[in-house]
This record gives sequence, C-alpha cells and structure tokens, in this order.
Amino acid sequence: MTRPPLLEIQDLRTYFYSRAKEAFIRSVDGVSLAIAPGETLGVVGESGSGKSVTALSILGLVGGNPGVITGAVHFAGGNGASGPRNLLADLERYVSLTKHDGRIVAVAKDEPGWRAHVERALARVRGKQIAMIFQNPKSSLNPFVTVGQQISEAVRLHTGVTHASEAKERALGWLERVRMDSPRLRFDQYPDGLSGGMCQRAMIAMALASEPSLLIADEPTTGLDATIQSRIVALLAELKSEFGVTTLLITHDIRVVSRLADTVAVMYGATVMEHGPARDVLAPGVEPKHPYTSALLASLPSTQTNGRRHAVDGRLPVIRGEVVDTMNVPRGCRFHARCDRITDAIRARCMGEEPALATVAAGHRMRCHLHPGEARGG
Ligand SMILES: Nc1ncnc2c1ncn2[C@@H]1O[C@H](COP(=O)(O)OP(=O)(O)O)[C@@H](O)[C@H]1O
Ligand SMILES: [Mg+2]
Repeated sequence: MTRPPLLEIQDLRTYFYSRAKEAFIRSVDGVSLAIAPGETLGVVGESGSGKSVTALSILGLVGGNPGVITGAVHFAGGNGASGPRNLLADLERYVSLTKHDGRIVAVAKDEPGWRAHVERALARVRGKQIAMIFQNPKSSLNPFVTVGQQISEAVRLHTGVTHASEAKERALGWLERVRMDSPRLRFDQYPDGLSGGMCQRAMIAMALASEPSLLIADEPTTGLDATIQSRIVALLAELKSEFGVTTLLITHDIRVVSRLADTVAVMYGATVMEHGPARDVLAPGVEPKHPYTSALLASLPSTQTNGRRHAVDGRLPVIRGEVVDTMNVPRGCRFHARCDRITDAIRARCMGEEPALATVAAGHRMRCHLHPGEARGG
C-alpha cells in the first residue's frame, strides 16, 4: 500500500467478561487491518467471527461489559491537519490488566471514567467523520421523525449548512442519489411507512449526508429479501464509483464482498486469517490459497461459483464443524479442527502453534502453516 491509510487498526482486542462462566469472551483477538483512502475493505467471515464487535470498537459503541479494549485505531480523517490520531488513546488509564503467560486473566476498571473518556474522544468522530449503516435499518431510524427531517438533521449537524430550506434541498438530493423512488413523497413519511429496502436507502442517504471520511456498513443487505439485496448491492456499487467514499464493508456474504471490495479481510475465530487485494484473495476461477477462504467460497450457491459445492442461498455458509469457542480459543491454528487441507507433514504445527499473519505476496497476508510467507513464528 503506497498511500498512508485513512484507518489503521493495530492488534485490537475486545474482550467481554462473562460473570456466569468467570471467563473472557475474546470477541476480537488481535485484529490488525488498514484501509487506504478511497478504498472499500470487505470484511467477511461466518457469524460470530468478531466482525461487528471490531466495527463497534472503532467507534466506542461496544455495549454490554467490554472488560477490555486494547490496541490502537489510528484515524486520519476529519481535517487531518494534525495527522492520524489514535481513537483508543489513553483508554488504558482506566483499566488495569493482570496477565499470566501473556494472557489477560483479570481486569480492574474504572467503568464510569472509561465511558466518559470514550464519549469525549469519539463524540465528534461518530456520525460526522465516520458514519455507520447497520443491518435492520428500520430499528436504526427514529420512528417518530420523518425520513426527510432525519436526513436534513444529519446535513445540519455535520456539514456547514445552517438554513432549514437548504438542508431540505440537500436531503432531497441525497434521497435522489440513493435512487429512492418518489423522493418528495418519502421525505415526509415516517420510517414505518417505508419498506425494508427503502429504509436501507434512507439510512445510506443519511450516512452520506454527513459527508464522512469513512463509511462503515455492517451487513447492509442482510435480512432484506434476495431481490432487494441485489438492488442495494447495485446501489452501493454505483455510489462507490460516483463518490468513492472510503468504506469498511462487513458481511458474512462473500458474494457481496467480491462484488464491492478492493481489498478483503477474512475473519475467523476473532482474528484475521487473510488480508489482501480482492483479486488475490478471491481470484476469479482460482481456488483460494487459504483453506478457510476456500471453505467459505465453497459454501456458495453453484451459480455464483461455476460448479463449486452447493449451499442454500441466504443461509450461513456451511462448513463442517463448529465455529471457535472464543472463551476457549484452541491452541494452534484456530481453524485446524475444521481444516480439510491439513497434511500429516504439518499436522503437529497446525495443532500446536498459531500461524503468524505472514506476508505471502505484495500487500497479501495470510495466517496458515501451508503458506508461511516471509515472517515466521510469532
Ligand atoms: N455485548 C456482548 N457481550 C458478550 N459477548 C458478545 C457481545 N457482543 C458480541 N459478543 C460475542 O462476540 C462474538 C463476536 O460477535 P460479532 O462481532 O457480533 O460477530 P459477527 O459480527 O462476526 O457475526 C460472538 O461470539 C458474540 O456472541
Ligand atoms: Mg455482525
């Protein structure tokens, strides 16, 4: 990557504490990723692999009891005059960790201080510099405020526009840009009067209306029916070529990623298994190098993959075995119990030693003993 990244996540760890089980749920466990300006990074992986918690951690929106969030999230958006800043800076002041063999075993935390700090640090970033769209747009829109008012509000809050009439014109413009049908009519409607697909268009309009440096889209097409899904994907593709907004696109659907992403990160068991240019990770017609990426792709409907194995459209990928228990992360490679490419020659390593995220080609990193790349160990 030649341009400095807009967002760089370094060794992010988000652990929840389960009182019932007296153990940490390692939802995000050492994630490192970078996004260059203008790029769409697709993050793909089965349900429960830590994609959403990664996104929420960037914005300090993790609910429940995140016992720990460590690592760095360098963000160069906003005016950028002062260079990138670490959105997680100083969080460690509120937390003291007890480690054993390098593992976190106990946490003492000033919860109110930590919360207040997160709010101070991120209030101006959220919505304005980093906008987010979620699955289930209806529940993300305010049911008591018309769609038009909500978008106008985003324009007023996050751009220089102060005049109500100008904000309204801009909001209408955004409804047109997301190809909302009858935008003037929809402007005055409440979210309840809109279909799921229209609500997602309204959410996208609202996110773009704040002219963010980074857009995070978490499962933007999940839960919509198949035709609407493909229309939203087509819209996202159009908006990408029209505006080139830097986007972190999260989905369990590898087809959405292969359609929209410039670079791809494949997550499994709370960490990144593979990260690289889309054309290398998901080279058309070529079996992926990484066994997990390959298994994900093999679980697609055959029409999309020219005769690869079947799965029922819309269901979660069907890969043999259970996903990783993030309370008891296995020794060795997190995927070894489900991997069908383990050979006797490497079995002991796969079971005993976690592979490093090693560079296998320019900009292409992989965590797999079959492809040790340049870096070894670690
Ligand atoms: N607030 C929370 N408290 C405890 N565990 C959580 C919480 N949020 C997520 N998790 C757990 O973290 C793991 C990763 O979740 P998530 O990031 O939502 O997965 P994905 O988005 O990839 O489907 C899951 O095992 C989930 O159950
Ligand atoms: Mg999710």
